[in-house]
Amino acid sequence: MCWDQVWIEVNIATMDNTIDNHYGAITDGAIAVKDGKIAWIGPRADLPQFDPLDTPVYRGYGGWITPGLIDAHTHLIFAGSRANEFEQRLNGVSYQEIAAAGGGIINTVNATRAATAGELFELGRRRLNALAKEGVTTVEIKSGYGLCLEDELKMLRVARELGKHHHVDVKTTFLGAHALPPEFKDDCQAYVNCVVEQMLPAVINENLADAVDVFCENIAFNLEQTEQILTAAKEAGLAIKLHAEQLSNMGGSTLAAKMGALSVDHIEYLNETGVQALAQSGTCATLLPGAFYFLRETKMPPIELLRQYKVPMVLASDFNPGSSPLCSTLLMLNLGCTLFRLTPAEALQGVTVNAAKALGISDQVGVLKTGMNADFCLWQIESPAELAYSYGVNPCKEVVKTGKLVHQ
Ligand code: NIG
Ligand code: FE
Repeated sequence: MCWDQVWIEVNIATMDNTIDNHYGAITDGAIAVKDGKIAWIGPRADLPQFDPLDTPVYRGYGGWITPGLIDAHTHLIFAGSRANEFEQRLNGVSYQEIAAAGGGIINTVNATRAATAGELFELGRRRLNALAKEGVTTVEIKSGYGLCLEDELKMLRVARELGKHHHVDVKTTFLGAHALPPEFKDDCQAYVNCVVEQMLPAVINENLADAVDVFCENIAFNLEQTEQILTAAKEAGLAIKLHAEQLSNMGGSTLAAKMGALSVDHIEYLNETGVQALAQSGTCATLLPGAFYFLRETKMPPIELLRQYKVPMVLASDFNPGSSPLCSTLLMLNLGCTLFRLTPAEALQGVTVNAAKALGISDQVGVLKTGMNADFCLWQIESPAELAYSYGVNPCKEVVKTGKLVHQ
């Protein structure tokens, strides 16, 4: 056999449910990589003969390999800080009240508009580095802090550039309908028309987005406006997703599911009808425990119903300056288990196999099996549950991205 590299003395959480329903575990396994893909994977005892003098062999010393982690929902390009609002909230003002008073998302919009593309790139690069150190190999980044043609394009161009210059793959999402910009304060519908008629065509023209998202909520865009934007995106051939049911039940998830959305995200207020709609369409349910924790929410997403209807559950950081200033995908594993009572296996599925589904890339990443991209991490842990159990001492020892060792 002629391979580019071989990994041995490893246990492997393949996340392949044809092996087992939890981690798809192979103890004392081996992985062979060729041309950036997994060429062979299985128990070490079955590893075909190869020339060890001609093939780099890496030893895991009994650690665990998992797929590279995927953070399927972030807003990691933004300028400024909202620590002052954090302080206000601790003095009794609510997230909704801050937003209504012109703070919140608009506060970050002002800072992001004032920043140059170069400044945003540097801020984004540092955040991407932080995720990458914890084993993240694919990240989704949304726009939504520009809220005008020029600045939405600026954000998306920076996201695309980050993807080109960083080993982490970047999927981009156009979230022009994140909040109502001050210029359209008294005419929400006119802004929605602007998103559909001016911004979206420009985004498509430069191929800046892989998907389109809307914040469907009583403090943002209503159901009809959401449908108008998602329809335009679909007609243009883009994938769709939705911030839905975060603060109230608006029925956004059912709408998005019927339209074939990849995922609906937040979903604390999702009800059984909504869960059924997700199950029927194969739409993923993205859980964002960072925002739940940081906003001190108490309404739990309907985890038991999602399990019952076998809706793929995704876990993501939602990293953003307002509701989840927590730039750690590993932390989400812990919060997903402690706050939402996910099992550690469900949590790991949420940042691997199911996260890949939510980004429409499950034919390439998220599961370790022959033919998939060789994106994986070696962790210094005794069992995969340790990734969710403990936080703070980063157990990531190595990261391989499309067959290249990128972190030692
Ligand atoms: O996903 N829910 C809407 N948007 C973000 C919050 C953005 C902000 O507050 O800056 C979220 O939680
Ligand atoms: Fe979000």
